[in-house]
Amino acid sequence: MSIRILSTTPLVGRHLHTLGENFPEMMIAPYRSIAWKMALASAEAMLVLLSEPLTEGDLELAPRLKVIGSYSVGVNHLPLALCRARGIQIVNTPSVLTDATADLALALLLGVTRRIAEGEALLRSGTWKGWAPDQLLGYGLTGKTCGILGAGPIGRAFARRVWALGMKPVFWDREGKHRPVDFGAGVARRLPLPALLPQSSVLSVHCPLTEETRGLLNRARLACLPHHAVLINTARGGILDESAAMERLHSGLLGGVGLDVYEGEPKLDPAWLRAPNTVLLPHLGSATVETREAMARILCDGVGKILASPPC
Ligand code: GLV
Repeated sequence: MSIRILSTTPLVGRHLHTLGENFPEMMIAPYRSIAWKMALASAEAMLVLLSEPLTEGDLELAPRLKVIGSYSVGVNHLPLALCRARGIQIVNTPSVLTDATADLALALLLGVTRRIAEGEALLRSGTWKGWAPDQLLGYGLTGKTCGILGAGPIGRAFARRVWALGMKPVFWDREGKHRPVDFGAGVARRLPLPALLPQSSVLSVHCPLTEETRGLLNRARLACLPHHAVLINTARGGILDESAAMERLHSGLLGGVGLDVYEGEPKLDPAWLRAPNTVLLPHLGSATVETREAMARILCDGVGKILASPPC
């Protein structure tokens, strides 16, 4: 049987199964397995995860490909220029993971500033001797400024959350326009980086990884943050210079770091494990049952529509 839809996993929920009822020429085969590579020859649709980059070489083996479905909002793992040139459509999963990702960024922020993991570890170690005036003191957030990189849906959802904590959100985004950002609960200023960084007691990354944002938070820009600033990244690892961030943590210039994403993940620079005031999560931004099911629905509906549409 020639395969029309090639997916690397069954996704979460029943949506892929339902798509397969309409398109029985479907195969689920592990990424880069022999079966997966062989099915490329006939595949009209491919479904991949954000951890499964596709190369131009992969696409050359897939001459009939009409659509790539990525089970993610980010599409930095796809050969976008070649897709454009060949007219291959891309279906991703924006909007449904906005709240889950903003929630996780907030969890990281509170985890870092209120030392939640350290407190839990103390309790579980059985060595807690009781309440003490200076035990595990963290930092408050009320009244402080939160710089948000990216004024898209996730950045704005994060702004609503920190605004509810009494923080003042300010935005930078790639468009660089200076008009204010309406984040739903209020309106915030959009600033160029040299103006935003020095006032950001908290800096949270919510922009996509593109050629423009790769290495955006480099050594020089991190040095513009106020002393003891807290940095949160739930977007993509390549945006942050991790070594520079670690140096600043060790020298006490950065107050804390909360990360959900890493350059080269799932490999983690082992130096992170020794970095102080750090909360590290394994890319859980969209990891709720509701969100992952909704992502599967969007993907399967989108791919199904494209395959069902008559050729132009
Ligand atoms: C998560 O990082 C996503 O891009 O969906």
